[in-house]
Amino acid sequence: MDNIILIGFMGCGKTSVGIRLSYQLRRIFLDTDKLIEQGQGRSVSRIFAEDGEAYFRALETETIAGLREGRAPCIIATGGGLPVKPENRPLLRALGRVIYLKAMPETVYERLRGDTERPLLQCADPLSRIRELMRERETAYADAADVTVFVDGKEIDMIVKEIEEKAG
Ligand code: S3P
Repeated sequence: MDNIILIGFMGCGKTSVGIRLSYQLRRIFLDTDKLIEQGQGRSVSRIFAEDGEAYFRALETETIAGLREGRAPCIIATGGGLPVKPENRPLLRALGRVIYLKAMPETVYERLRGDTERPLLQCADPLSRIRELMRERETAYADAADVTVFVDGKEIDMIVKEIEEKAG
């Protein structure tokens, strides 16, 4: 399948890059968090608060498994934790080209400063939490990805161009 799948940590730019790519390539943009929120009729934060992270992770697997059949090629942005579950990685790869948008912890911290929508970063020291989670997840991202694009200090247009060159 010809989808382009964007993976990477919260705040690495999956949504903004994905929307730009979808204009450029004239493909529909899908976002797993949005699909889950639509299906559940409540926000990711509420799902975490009411049913817990494990429940949300099960919804993520269900969502990407459900994207397999019968669609025109899309741009698919994924929640930052989605590639962590080993069973999700072959599902991602089966969907198309997997692009890892790699950012430094400081970049993510700056971008998400004051954010209240990400339950995993609602803590006293978000930068340390970001560093810790990134360290834990790096192998999963690298394992899931066909291509890695470094995003620090780059404009969206440049990132999109790199993706088109590497995934086209
Ligand atoms: C998460 C990332 C979020 C969302 C949820 C959990 C994570 O998506 O799925 O808050 O575990 O990294 P974004 O990467 O779009 O912020």
